[in-house]
Amino acid sequence: MYAKIKETAAWLRERMPNAPSVAIVLGTGLGQLAKRIDRTLSIPYSEIPNFPVSTVEGHSGELIFGRLGGKEVMAMEGRFHYYEGYTMQQVTFPVRIMSELGIRTLFVSNAAGGTNPDFSIGDLMIITDHINYMPENPLNGPNVPPGPRFPDMSEAYSKDLIAQADDIAARHGIKVQHGVYLATQGPTYETPAEYRMFARWGADAVGMSTVPEVIVANHCGIRCFGMSVITDLGGMEVPMKITHQEVLRAAEAVQPFMATIMEEMIKGIHD
Ligand code: HPA
Repeated sequence: MYAKIKETAAWLRERMPNAPSVAIVLGTGLGQLAKRIDRTLSIPYSEIPNFPVSTVEGHSGELIFGRLGGKEVMAMEGRFHYYEGYTMQQVTFPVRIMSELGIRTLFVSNAAGGTNPDFSIGDLMIITDHINYMPENPLNGPNVPPGPRFPDMSEAYSKDLIAQADDIAARHGIKVQHGVYLATQGPTYETPAEYRMFARWGADAVGMSTVPEVIVANHCGIRCFGMSVITDLGGMEVPMKITHQEVLRAAEAVQPFMATIMEEMIKGIHD
């Protein structure tokens, strides 16, 4: 794995015009931030050595380099999900590459189902913490140096970045919720009983991504900031049916607000 990381990073280094310090992973239906990047290079995942290929609808699968908020950034438009059949090592391989390329800060976004009764469809939730309910931890197996064997997860989402996001949201009059994101394997959405169970466990939102990437980013010493778009609500008295199309539609409506918060945050980064 280490040799593959080195090989892919070297391949990208030869092609990318400038070294990025910030990376962004864009979730389902949340590609708008990528459109704000002043692009210098876009590479389909299929052309990158050792990269898995994204298959799910709504994920175009491109690695983008360019400038956003006055910073050099790299962005993943489309991510790899465990439910697609990839191993956890494949799902998190791009984060290893980010670390190798010198990324210090990672922004992640996703669509998620709300389990908190105070949430509404279309809410933006700043992720304050997570619950890993996936069947595997991405750090399972031999440790990848230089990260520690038993990494601390007491601040998986940077408190500083959360405070900055709150300031920016307040300044722009954007309403944000805060909450715990629980990751399931998917690809099924949850039954009403599962939603209720997750709510009791302390989850405010449920989705099928993000947690593997954030675990590996923390292992690499990359600080993380994440936001969920609440695209549906579960566990209510009257069960709601969920479709992928509805999730995409709800994400589309609020993504400009998320893009604004993240772009402003990137402007304020100093390292
Ligand atoms: N559950 C899991 N993943 C999701 C959901 C959900 O309700 N909505 C969007 N992604």
